[in-house]
Amino acid sequence: MQLTDFFIFSSLMSSINQLLLEAKSVTKYFGTITALENVNLKIHAGECLGVVGDNGAGKSTLMKVLSGLYKPSAGSLFFDGKEEILESPKDSQNLGLEMVYQDLALAGNLPIGENIFLGREPTKNIGLLKFLDYKKIKELTDAHLGKLKINVKSADQKVEELSGGQRQAVAIARSTAFNAKVVIMDEPTAALAIKEVGKVLDLINSLKKTGVGVIVISHRMDDIFAVCDRVMALFQGTNFAESELSKTSRDEVIGWIMGKK
Ligand SMILES: Nc1ncnc2c1ncn2[C@@H]1O[C@H](COP(=O)(O)OP(=O)(O)OP(=O)(O)O)[C@@H](O)[C@H]1O
Ligand SMILES: [Mg+2]
Repeated sequence: MQLTDFFIFSSLMSSINQLLLEAKSVTKYFGTITALENVNLKIHAGECLGVVGDNGAGKSTLMKVLSGLYKPSAGSLFFDGKEEILESPKDSQNLGLEMVYQDLALAGNLPIGENIFLGREPTKNIGLLKFLDYKKIKELTDAHLGKLKINVKSADQKVEELSGGQRQAVAIARSTAFNAKVVIMDEPTAALAIKEVGKVLDLINSLKKTGVGVIVISHRMDDIFAVCDRVMALFQGTNFAESELSKTSRDEVIGWIMGKK
């Protein structure tokens, strides 16, 4: 290996291990309910973290705190090592975090391209007036879908005409269209047929290869064991257990979900 290769290799390795986001001691109360208590989470570049836990364990609440939708009652968030206080999801988006919600939040009556750019569309000025630049939207969408190897007939197709798996792919494409560093997916395969699950998991693997840190909430052990590098279990709003994937088993993780170690 030449010296230059070594430097390229070592800088790639350090960026792969880079800590992108850390939550420290996050607590969240809803009135008298304690949804999260002193929860910690870390996500690194190129890594997929699986988050598991029973219904009501606090998974979605934790993700909503990370994305700025909820303000933590206590605790702190660090993006690229710097403490940040988020006022809204816009703030976390500006810091490179995107969230794919369980209901996908897509507009069925709009074409794929406009869904990907929803609220962040490229515009052009004609005289004093500002218009959406549909040509640019289509070009950028085609390029982005191609990069992610997502097959749809055309970027102009309406989302309501797509299959469940294609819709999930569009929601993931939207989350990665703005150079996200961290993408959170809440139950990305829950509503999909087996054939479509495989495509979404392939998409997660290709995101990891580009250095994105992916957090996946899932109840399906097949998903967790197909794409994650690390898995953490929440139980009644607390960190219950965590492991590198290679050092645990499905049975052990299922036990953690039920509060058994
Ligand atoms: N907006 C809210 N107002 C009041 N309580 C809430 C709110 N959101 C969540 N909770 C409560 O916080 C706890 C954690 O809920 P959360 O939705 O985070 O669970 P979860 O792990 O995502 O569960 P599931 O697997 O069912 O999606 C639950 O007791 C829930 O009832
Ligand atoms: Mg949830």
